[in-house]
Amino acid sequence: MFAFDPYSPAVDADPFPLYAVLRDEHPCFYSEDAQMWVLSRYADVLAAGLDWKTFSSAKGNLMTELPNRAGATLGTTDPPRHDRLRGLIQHAFMKRNLEGLSDPIRRIAADAAGSLRGRTEFEFIGEFSAIFTVRVLAAALGLPLDDETTLREKAVLMVQSDPVTRAKGPQHLAAYQWMQDFAAAVIAERRRNPRDDLISHFSAAEIDGDRLDEREVLLTTTTLIMAGIESLGGFMAMFALNLADHPDVRRTVAADPTRLPDAIEESLRFNTSAQRFRRNLQKDVSLHGRTMRAGEFVCLAYGAANRDERQFPNAAVYDLARKPRGHLGFGGGVHACLGTQIARLSVKIAFEELHKVLPEYGRTSATLGWMPSSTFRSPLRLDLAVH
Ligand code: HEM
Repeated sequence: MFAFDPYSPAVDADPFPLYAVLRDEHPCFYSEDAQMWVLSRYADVLAAGLDWKTFSSAKGNLMTELPNRAGATLGTTDPPRHDRLRGLIQHAFMKRNLEGLSDPIRRIAADAAGSLRGRTEFEFIGEFSAIFTVRVLAAALGLPLDDETTLREKAVLMVQSDPVTRAKGPQHLAAYQWMQDFAAAVIAERRRNPRDDLISHFSAAEIDGDRLDEREVLLTTTTLIMAGIESLGGFMAMFALNLADHPDVRRTVAADPTRLPDAIEESLRFNTSAQRFRRNLQKDVSLHGRTMRAGEFVCLAYGAANRDERQFPNAAVYDLARKPRGHLGFGGGVHACLGTQIARLSVKIAFEELHKVLPEYGRTSATLGWMPSSTFRSPLRLDLAVH
């Protein structure tokens, strides 16, 4: 009998054969392992993302949700509360415009890439993307960087789950608590000494006199740090993996960086790091002959929808020329990623600078270990050989 267990190491390593069976044979599937429905076809996932009244995020959007987060962040509220939060945060994002961040991002990328000059092998995550993402997020949000290694470790740990118990283990919860304490200290400091940074802006942001409450400020800051560091870092690793595995594409974008945005979009479609998110049903829904009941959880498998042949012909092929409009690598609907612009800009600049120093690389024989997470998918380390 067919089973789909989003917590299993086999799904961490390669979900795509199972996604194909889900889409073709079980488009509305109840996973006994996860105790939730799984939608995998592009049209169904997108429709659910748009229909927030039926597919609610208010009970959390991570497949394994963190305690106390539901109801207090962008990803874990429904409109109108969600729209109010998003409006306040977008407002804060706008004040610090992206143009102003381009130069700092480039300096951070050039510095991280420069330290790899002359190497014959390097570990992409520990020696490049982790350093880059933490520094970029610190610049964008205005975080102190006294201990950047710990900050990165905690951001990554809090999104993971125990692969055996499938729950958050003590180490994941401790990392989440650490991040909240870290965020609380930054917020308190910015309130005393406001600066021109995101946290200063949104902890004071107002629309028509409407401000965020304390729990919203704290958990939204915590989530932004997590989303920024983990999602960006995870995607960069997946992008590097795609380029290493497709030397023709890597050569093209290294020689002509104006092609990088096409390669980035295709990677977001082909194997985004943000694979699966969760919703809660507000009413019964019948789909493909099955009836999902109000109160049950539903997994929106963005990673499966992005490989749906009904939407993307030859979906299993990584194609630089594709220009995959409407992919769900950043989600879709009211909860589509808020960080798309900074993410696209950061990845583009990072690889422009990396390719100036190391244009030729490929995978070594080292096996990849995958992050234990039911929501995100990225390698724990990525060893690359420089040609
Ligand atoms: C390439 C890197 C990234 C990927 C692949 C990604 C992916 C996603 C996805 C799939 C969602 C939708 C979640 C859902 O449906 O429940 C999302 C939401 C979100 N992302 Fe990202 N993200 C990335 C980078 C970032 C960055 C850098 C930030 C912030 C600095 C960020 C902030 C957010 C926020 C705040 C939300 C919630 C939006 C809402 O619910 O209205 N993301 N992201």
